[in-house]
Amino acid sequence: MGSTSSSEREHAARVAALTDVESLRADVSELRQAQTEAALLLALAERTANAATLQDVFDAALDATCAALMVPRAAILLFDDDGVMRFKAWRGLSETYRAAVDGHSPWRPEQSDPAPVIVGDVTQEPSLAAFSGTFAAERIGALAFFPLAYEGRLLGKVMAYSEPVRELSSREVRLAMAVSTHVAMSVVRQQAVAREREATRRLEAGVRAREEILSIVSHDLRTPLSGILTATELLERLHIEPPMGERVRRSVDSIRRLTARMSRLINDLMDFASIENGHFSIDPIDTSPEDIVSGTLEAFLAQAAEREIAIDARVASECPRLHADEERVVQALTNLVANAVSVTPRGGRIALVADCTAQSVRFSVADTGPGIHADELPHLFERYWRSPSAAYKGTGLGLPIAKAIVDAHGGRIWAESAPGRGSTFHFELPASARVG
Ligand SMILES: Nc1ncnc2c1ncn2[C@@H]1O[C@H](COP(=O)(O)OP(=O)(O)OP(=O)(O)O)[C@@H](O)[C@H]1O
Ligand SMILES: [Mg+2]
Repeated sequence: MGSTSSSEREHAARVAALTDVESLRADVSELRQAQTEAALLLALAERTANAATLQDVFDAALDATCAALMVPRAAILLFDDDGVMRFKAWRGLSETYRAAVDGHSPWRPEQSDPAPVIVGDVTQEPSLAAFSGTFAAERIGALAFFPLAYEGRLLGKVMAYSEPVRELSSREVRLAMAVSTHVAMSVVRQQAVAREREATRRLEAGVRAREEILSIVSHDLRTPLSGILTATELLERLHIEPPMGERVRRSVDSIRRLTARMSRLINDLMDFASIENGHFSIDPIDTSPEDIVSGTLEAFLAQAAEREIAIDARVASECPRLHADEERVVQALTNLVANAVSVTPRGGRIALVADCTAQSVRFSVADTGPGIHADELPHLFERYWRSPSAAYKGTGLGLPIAKAIVDAHGGRIWAESAPGRGSTFHFELPASARVG
């Protein structure tokens, strides 16, 4: 049993100290590498988060891949709708090379969990033998395929190319995979955004097309309509002997009614198009509740008399003048009275009232019609909504247009009704709309 000499102990201590320094150095370099990788992934995340287009995502992906593997050349390929892998973005690849390898993929499109393929020396890889001339011409000695997959779906691949023959460390492969996983997620997100943008663009184009059609159709229809109206007026003035005279008068009457309805429908559609497109505006003037009520009433006197419907109109005496778009407010009130006249049976009554409070002017139209079910009340102001029990012809635009007019004045509109108890429609224009 020998004893350890002091020089041996010193030697052992020196070796231990050196090993400590070595392992410290290794730790520091490991830390630096981890820090570089984290910075690279962070920069990629920032750029993809701020990407406005798919091309921005590709650019960030190419930069990250080249930096991660320290290669000058990289590419992104995605499966097209026809299931063929196609170049979408690249660095340092000739057109001839891209054309020659276009469509090549080491994985099938439906492959669920594809692994990266690292080819350290292209001349030694039998599966790529067909491309050996292409690789030589492009001076590619080594390459790597990293799958772009999201939620188990293969979208495409990230490629990295090196001129010298070169193997990748497992660490490099892990980093490149982290890059491609992040890129796959960003590609899916950008594609969804692009689809949404396209849908919006189509919708807007559809709305514009509809607006154009409406304005062309309405313009083209208005001219013959006014011609028809003039012709009916002429016919009315002609004296035709009975019994033909009576038949002609009835026909002329019905032509006139139908024409008036058509022209109202055209105007409603035009108004509605401008409401939908946000182009609806009002042009307020100095007016009064009296002018609005009498302006509305005028249009219904003949029709009401014919149907033996009494219309009582009343304006509260203390009502002040209003600053409002008189023509539009008359239109809103007209739509309410038109509905009331349509639903009120022969011999019924309609009350048209303007009441004023300190804060507002309230117009109300009450009828003795069939009333409205509680579950139908919330739908009244929806576009094209009509009760299944509506007993007259209509489009379902009168109330939404009235609501748009009232809204544009900063007012509110609502209905009170119960089956068998008639209906009352109200709208209130705020005091701020008043002059003075
Ligand atoms: N006073 C009322 N009494 C009972 N139901 C009503 C009354 N006013 C409206 N309604 C119901 O609300 C629906 C929508 O009315 P709206 O004025 O928007 O369209 P419309 O009268 O059918 O067609 P138009 O576009 O010609 O006005 C009507 O179809 C009817 O079912
Ligand atoms: Mg109506």
